[in-house]
Amino acid sequence: MKLVVAPDYETLTELAADFIAETVADKPDAVLALPTGSTPLGAYRRLILKARHGHLDLSRVTTFNLDEYVGVGLRDPLSYHAYMTEHLFSQVNVDPARIHLPDGLAPDPEAEGRRYEAEITRAGGIDLAVLGIGANGHIGFNEPGGPFESRTRPVRLSAETIVAMQAEAPSEGRLPVTALTLGIATIMEARQVLLLAAGPEKAEAVARALQGPVDVAVPASVLQRHPRATFLVDREAASRLK
Ligand code: PGA
Repeated sequence: MKLVVAPDYETLTELAADFIAETVADKPDAVLALPTGSTPLGAYRRLILKARHGHLDLSRVTTFNLDEYVGVGLRDPLSYHAYMTEHLFSQVNVDPARIHLPDGLAPDPEAEGRRYEAEITRAGGIDLAVLGIGANGHIGFNEPGGPFESRTRPVRLSAETIVAMQAEAPSEGRLPVTALTLGIATIMEARQVLLLAAGPEKAEAVARALQGPVDVAVPASVLQRHPRATFLVDREAASRLK
C-alpha cells in the first residue's frame, strides 16, 4: 500500500483532486466510486474549480456512490443524493444518466444491492474507488466485523457511526440505522483505491489499517491486500503511525 502524508488538510484536498483529475485525464470514461462525509468536501471544491477553469472534463465519467441511507428519499436533505448534488454534481458536467447511488427507498434493499452490483458490472467495473475511513476503521459503511467477501447490501450502522454521521448531518432529522453500502469485495475489485483521512480522530484507524493485522475488526486493513491502494492522509491522521 502506498502512503502519502500531506502537511495539512488543504494540501490533502489538492493532492486528492489532482489524483482524481489525472485518472480522468488518462481515461475520460473512467468509472469512479465516490464518498460522502466531511473529508472529501475540499477535494470536491477543487474538482469544481478545475472543471470551471477547463482543466477537467467529467462529461464521460460514470459515478457510483459508496453508500446511501435506507428509508431516505433522494430529495431528502439527509440523503447522500442531496449531498452529492449540492457539493459536486450540480456544479460540474457529469452526465446525470451516468450518476448512480443506491436507492434508499427501494422496497427490497437486498435486491437493490444486487441491482447496484449489476450496474457496476455493466459499467465495466470501478477504475478508481475514493474512500473515507471511519474512526472505527469502516470503509463505505462496512462496519467492523463485516465479511471481506461482502457485496453491496443493506447493513446496520454501529452506534459510533450514527453519532459521527449525526454530528455532520445537514438537519436535525434522525438518521436511519440502516444503509446500503458497496461491499468490501466490491471495493477490492476496483482497479485503484484512494483512501482519504484527515484529523486526529482518524489517527488510530489509519495506524491499525496500515500497520496492524489484516482483520475484519478493522475493515480498511483489507486494503493491505490491494495491488494499487493509496492512503492519502494529513499529518494529524498520520500521527499514530510508527
Ligand atoms: P468523514 O467520514 O469524512 O465525515 O469523517 C468518513 C467515513 O466515515 O467513512
